[in-house]
Amino acid sequence: MYSAKMPEGFLWGGAVAAHQLEGAWNVGGKGVSVADVMTVGSATKPREITDGVLEGKNYPNHSAIDFYHHYKEDIKLLAGMGFKAFRTSIAWTRIFPNGDDAEPSEEGLKFYDDLFDEMHKYSIEPVITLSHFEMPFNLAKNYGGFTNRKTIDFFVRFAEVCFKRYKDKVKYWMTFNEIDNQSAFNNDFLMATNSGILFKDGMTDEEKEAAMYQAAHYEFVASALAVKMGHKINPDFKIGLMINYSPVRPLTPSSEDALLADKFEQHRDFFSDVQVFGEYPKAIEAYIEKHGYRPDITDEDRVVLKEGTVDYVAFSYYQSTTVSSEKVSADELSDLEKSVAVNPTLERSDWGWEIDPVGLRLALNHLTDRYHLPLFIVENGLGAYDKVEDGKIHDPYRVDYLKKHISEMEKAVAIDGVDLMGYLPWGPIDLVSAGTGQMDKRYGFIYVNKNDQGVGDLSRTPKDSYYWYKRVIESNGTDLD
Ligand code: BG6
Repeated sequence: MYSAKMPEGFLWGGAVAAHQLEGAWNVGGKGVSVADVMTVGSATKPREITDGVLEGKNYPNHSAIDFYHHYKEDIKLLAGMGFKAFRTSIAWTRIFPNGDDAEPSEEGLKFYDDLFDEMHKYSIEPVITLSHFEMPFNLAKNYGGFTNRKTIDFFVRFAEVCFKRYKDKVKYWMTFNEIDNQSAFNNDFLMATNSGILFKDGMTDEEKEAAMYQAAHYEFVASALAVKMGHKINPDFKIGLMINYSPVRPLTPSSEDALLADKFEQHRDFFSDVQVFGEYPKAIEAYIEKHGYRPDITDEDRVVLKEGTVDYVAFSYYQSTTVSSEKVSADELSDLEKSVAVNPTLERSDWGWEIDPVGLRLALNHLTDRYHLPLFIVENGLGAYDKVEDGKIHDPYRVDYLKKHISEMEKAVAIDGVDLMGYLPWGPIDLVSAGTGQMDKRYGFIYVNKNDQGVGDLSRTPKDSYYWYKRVIESNGTDLD
């Protein structure tokens, strides 16, 4: 298998999000977030979004893996693999429990002070997402999330408090996790998590899509204002965007499929285009105009977008996308998901996610060519069922997946000249799945004893992959076997 030494200072590590591992949902003055009103689902059953926290429902994020109380033990285990960086988010509701509070919570701020100090003890660089699917529920329910211009101010205030408080502890920041996911505007879960939009029954596709473009715009403005302010607070800050990048390819060699693939990509790239170039791509302006959506975009907003462009492009990569024009033509493209086809050349995970390591090299090349900025892989990995046998977890499938992806990543750096800051695979310690709320969909190098029913003593056990990843990091990417 191809391998190459990564550049000096390459950030090897892993990535998580506060709501998926911290638990302690109502401890330390924390308020209710959108993640706290989502029930457990499964590979086939979507999570339910309830109207507040209801008696008798199973909300897996409430306790998660109780990282809030176990973080010292967990950071030590991650440090044992030689982590150089660890990505997590700051739970918005630990700092502003309702989002519109006048003052931040000192107890919440102190928790992250202690967490970042613990990381620095082991020379682990914190990589921090400000908003990772955990908007205060109050903002979603009572303000309409990011469909409301006021939410820009709430977010920017949250960002300011975090930037000022942690200016000497955190250098790498991201504003919104997977901001491009909302191109799937028909997906209630993604719209609630990304933008705090709780769709009412009976809304049409057009109404949902219009809400998405409005919310995305206010998020662009909020992100640009935060970037600009962050650079003033500490000029050494590196503040990036974050997308869920998936190279799109046509199912057949037909020109119709090729055009559809290009259009699909255009609609996804739009989110990073605005944050890198500080302006809307022509095709998207035309699309919005054609559909008569008329989002509130002021001239002042356009200036802000230009002034707050990002320093790097972070992305998650799980799978590529294949599209077919059999059901949807490029000119009718609106709900992107309807054009997605099964790629017959790829294997799939137990949750149906296509496994495509070469797609990661394509992603790195595409984003480099388009943006000419440093890239950062801040999520990648395989969600899989694990079995404990005699207290051990043998997970060759996970090693196989990661090894192949790392090898393609190393080709992109060593052969294609991609400027890559680091590699942070998803969920280095088992945590609650965002999509399904399950514990049994595991990504970790460290097993956490808890199942989908919430049963388990929460003990932590390194899996075989733990020792493998330790060797990868030690060798700076040359030892993949
Ligand atoms: C990304 C998210 O979409 O994928 C993470 O940023 C999420 O929050 C990850 O956990 C994996 O998805 P899932 O549904 O398997 O948890």
